[in-house]
Amino acid sequence: MEVLDYDAVILGSGLGGLTTAIHASLKGKKKIRIAVVTKLHAMRSHSVSAEGGISGVLYPDATNDTVELHAYDTVKGSDFLADQDAVEILANSAADEIRFYDHIGVSWNRTDDGRIQQRPFGGMTIPRTAFAADKTGFFMMRALYDEVVGLGNVDIFHEHFATSILMDGGKFEGLTAINLANRQFKLFRAKACVIATGGCSRVYGFTTTAHSSTGDGIALAYRAGLPLKDMEFVQFHPTALVPSGILITEAARGEGGYLRNNRGERFMEKYAKSKMELAPRDIVSRAIVTEIREGRGYTHKESGMAYVHLDLTHLDARLLDERLPMIRELSIKSINVDPHDEPLPIRPAAHFTMGGIHVNTAGQIMAEDEGKPAAGMWAVGECGCVSVHGSNRLGSNSLSQCSVWGRLAGNAIPDYIASAGSGSDGAATVSRAEKEEARINALLESSGNVNPYELQGSLQKTMDDLVYVYRKTDELLKARQAVMELKKQYGGIYVTDKGNEFNSNLRDALEIGNLIDLAGVIVEGAIQRKESRGAHAMVEYPKRDDENYLKHTIARRKGDEMVLSYIPVTITKWKPVERVY
Ligand code: FUM
Repeated sequence: MEVLDYDAVILGSGLGGLTTAIHASLKGKKKIRIAVVTKLHAMRSHSVSAEGGISGVLYPDATNDTVELHAYDTVKGSDFLADQDAVEILANSAADEIRFYDHIGVSWNRTDDGRIQQRPFGGMTIPRTAFAADKTGFFMMRALYDEVVGLGNVDIFHEHFATSILMDGGKFEGLTAINLANRQFKLFRAKACVIATGGCSRVYGFTTTAHSSTGDGIALAYRAGLPLKDMEFVQFHPTALVPSGILITEAARGEGGYLRNNRGERFMEKYAKSKMELAPRDIVSRAIVTEIREGRGYTHKESGMAYVHLDLTHLDARLLDERLPMIRELSIKSINVDPHDEPLPIRPAAHFTMGGIHVNTAGQIMAEDEGKPAAGMWAVGECGCVSVHGSNRLGSNSLSQCSVWGRLAGNAIPDYIASAGSGSDGAATVSRAEKEEARINALLESSGNVNPYELQGSLQKTMDDLVYVYRKTDELLKARQAVMELKKQYGGIYVTDKGNEFNSNLRDALEIGNLIDLAGVIVEGAIQRKESRGAHAMVEYPKRDDENYLKHTIARRKGDEMVLSYIPVTITKWKPVERVY
């Protein structure tokens, strides 16, 4: 085992991880030593796939937009589950983040007078989503990566898979990781740790997300005894291409696209008359599934999947090429349909984890004791539930969230390091890491007979079939049983490849373990929330129930048990009202 000592270790290299690295480095005058540990090459982080844009109030005078309106849209979009103090931080800071990206070289689309262009997005009252065609995440990541490699005090450990977070008495000690290139086991000791590993949408089979979206950091935090929040709220993006799940950005509707059923009707008129296709995602996803269930969808011949149409045929070819070039290219290449000529087959797919590691408004991970953060630990981006999205995120708020909390965490780290004292007992940390190395070696050598990929297939089918857009108690109970069974079987898995070089078999087995644990938390939270709120639509409880469920779900692992508890939602200015669009 190799032991490496840093001041701060950042797990994950997407927008959240890289913004944290930049701000920590700059705030610490490039004097603190930072490690970024990522299971991918950093530029393959899932953030590069973000398409439609980032929200923020850039030009209030010219657009009649206000920070207050952005905040209210977000709170209403969240079905009033978002913590309003956190939402106010987001709305107040987002525009500065867009300008920061402008300064580091993101090539935003611009208006004729040179301003950063902003497009309409679902649930937003005013067009406030800045974009770089439909490759926004790629351009943001490229600019951030260029910055990070120029800093000098940040080492990036590409293709290192984290296996555990080591803590002592509520304080961070280090994390362990496998170098995938040669299977060397490493301990990263540091005073501060930031988890920025994204979401876990790969618990589903039909998803817009990368195969890497396996929620590793969330699962490691959970196993370390740290609390997770609101995991039952899974965002289904309305327009995933059938049959692959490739994301067709919401910007396609922002730029004027229509949703049509098999009668050619723009059915959103029945579900959200004032917003139509630009209603929030939970509402649009439910509308699509309802149309399909009531016989107004189509069936895909090869896969048998049901779908409706996203119709862009009335949009100008030049507009498609300037603002939506990637989805045009992807549609042509993957299903041989040019959206300029024919409508696209789409249906909702798992897209975003609205829950995550329970953090406070500073992005600090909360410890066992509810009122107190764990020492030296932050979670930013999709894996950290702050909570600005509540039960339903508005599209384009996630890139703002990553950036705002990346900066907050980064800025806090140097002061924390200066005040944290000499750190933990290094020898005790090494001995804990050695135990973890032995656990991984035992997994590799295990003589079990269960194929982990079969477990993954069953898990994804269970979640696709039983924990989708509409949920029912009996189906959730079946899902709970199935996930418990998978967890038992996971104890008997085998890893076929025993080698050291790029052992993706071993990595996949560990990822599948993470997915099974997180699916258990999603399902349990869903069973216990007997109401419909945002993306959690229960057939038996069709109404939001503020009296009993205006609260966040907290899930902790105690021993081998999952324990749920609840904490209040922070309401500052906006009393919950009925959500009508
Ligand atoms: O549709 C999209 O471009 C996705 C954006 C988001 O999830 O924020």
